[in-house]
Amino acid sequence: MKRPEYRYRYWAKRELRSRDSTEVRHALDEWTRKLDSSDSRFRHHQIEAIWAYRWIGETKTDLLRELLACENRHARAAATQQLRYWHQEMPDAARLLRSAANDANAMVRMEAIIAASYIGSRDAFDAAIDVLNHPHGKHLTYAITSSLGSAALRQYWQDEPDGRIASILKSASQIDTLREPTPSGRDAQFDSQKDIARVDISCMPERMLYTKTVFTVRPGQPTKLVFTNPDATDHNLLILKPGAVEAVGMAANEMARDPKNANSDFIPTSQTDLILHASPMIGPTRKSRIHVLRFNAPATPGIYPYLCTFPGHWVVMRGDMIVATSDEHAERLLAERTPEAQYEWQVADFVDVVVPKDETSVMRGMQAFMKARCNQCHSVAGHGENIGADISQIGKKYQGSALLQHIIEPSREIAEQYRNYQITTVDGKVLSGMIVKQSPAEIELMPNLLTPTTTITIKRSDIESQVASRTSSMPTGLLNVLDQEEVTALLAYLQHGYEVPEHLKHAH
Ligand code: HEC
Repeated sequence: MKRPEYRYRYWAKRELRSRDSTEVRHALDEWTRKLDSSDSRFRHHQIEAIWAYRWIGETKTDLLRELLACENRHARAAATQQLRYWHQEMPDAARLLRSAANDANAMVRMEAIIAASYIGSRDAFDAAIDVLNHPHGKHLTYAITSSLGSAALRQYWQDEPDGRIASILKSASQIDTLREPTPSGRDAQFDSQKDIARVDISCMPERMLYTKTVFTVRPGQPTKLVFTNPDATDHNLLILKPGAVEAVGMAANEMARDPKNANSDFIPTSQTDLILHASPMIGPTRKSRIHVLRFNAPATPGIYPYLCTFPGHWVVMRGDMIVATSDEHAERLLAERTPEAQYEWQVADFVDVVVPKDETSVMRGMQAFMKARCNQCHSVAGHGENIGADISQIGKKYQGSALLQHIIEPSREIAEQYRNYQITTVDGKVLSGMIVKQSPAEIELMPNLLTPTTTITIKRSDIESQVASRTSSMPTGLLNVLDQEEVTALLAYLQHGYEVPEHLKHAH
């Protein structure tokens, strides 16, 4: 029973079942008692014993209790599963089930909700629905939906006056929006090609980053790119011709100026010749959270960037599709890429910074501001949009390294008025945005910084949870493309600003 191979352990248990059960029980008790608790597989062996007891129709509830509370998550999960068979002999089964439903490990919580559907009692139901208070990913959600939807448990919630479970199940079923749509005949045919490359790219929640920032395909290779977005913000994915990031990104920014485009897919029509493939915006406010791109990779080897063109996102949310004839070729292409100097600036590098004031420095700083793409979200010399905070007078508030700290570590201190909140409503909707107004009865949320006039009013009684985001909407690492002199110049520009001479103002 200690063998690593499953089949040996299976044969052993089968053999034990054919023997006299009292005799086997005593032998098992003895075997279990003698197990070495310092053995790394100790918990595994104990679980094996539990299974053997079950096979011979015996129970060993004290051992099961020990395993339910032990430090090994696999053992806790297996023990929780066992509750479905032995709960009748355990008067505290509901309490044990509740503790499993609140386990730190999702696998254990999953076993708890499944066990409840086998036990089928009111107590088990009440205990196991605690899983709903914890995060549940795809698999757990599936288990929750099938368990609560089972005939055994359905009776406990279907007539609930508040319809809470019904609405939770409904919102859980929305996880289906992450499932690939059934392919059309033509798509299925495309997918069945033998040499197809499958690429999965998702969006990291709250990070404004893709889960994959580089992938390689062969020239002309059929490629199926499955793009998903579980984030609370909408994103798209555009694949571009080499070197086209800036032109397409800035064009998307330009689109953003027009409020009419606030809900568009941010695919700039002025740059279609630079765009090879584009997904629509997908995410919580859109029709879908998944989009599949099917295409043949370009015939010409090279580095084809992909990015999310939502204004401000494209500066950071990017990756590269490498088209190469072999892996070595791909590495060579990456190595040949004109190296862009990268620094890892820390506030400590600038503690004694002396911020110059002369106009040359200020002008260099303004260029650095553009190079680091601060103009994405902050207006420059009165031009452009303030998607982020208005920093035109920031020099009055902070100077030198204190100012730099706000740029290098934006999440350390987030201006409260710009803090993002994630609100989950009782019917399962997730909304995210800045709170623009609040009263004891209501909260007014601005989901999109680009369209400040569009707000959503939510009744507090409809709110299930409200979580302050700890990350600033301002990205980190922006300064890493600047050298030391440029960073210093940037501070000069931020502190002193630049204004066109009075006599030119009329033309400005
Ligand atoms: C993607 C949008 C975005 C980009 C790009 C961006 N910021 Fe910000 N910035 C914000 C937002 C939103 C805030 C307000 C939230 C906060 O305080 O973190 C902010 C806040 C700030 C603040 C603090 C303001 C205050 O009153 O406390 C400073 C300073 C600042 N940004 C400077 C910069 C500089 C310099 C750059 C370029 C290196 C830059 N930002 C790039 C979005 C952006």
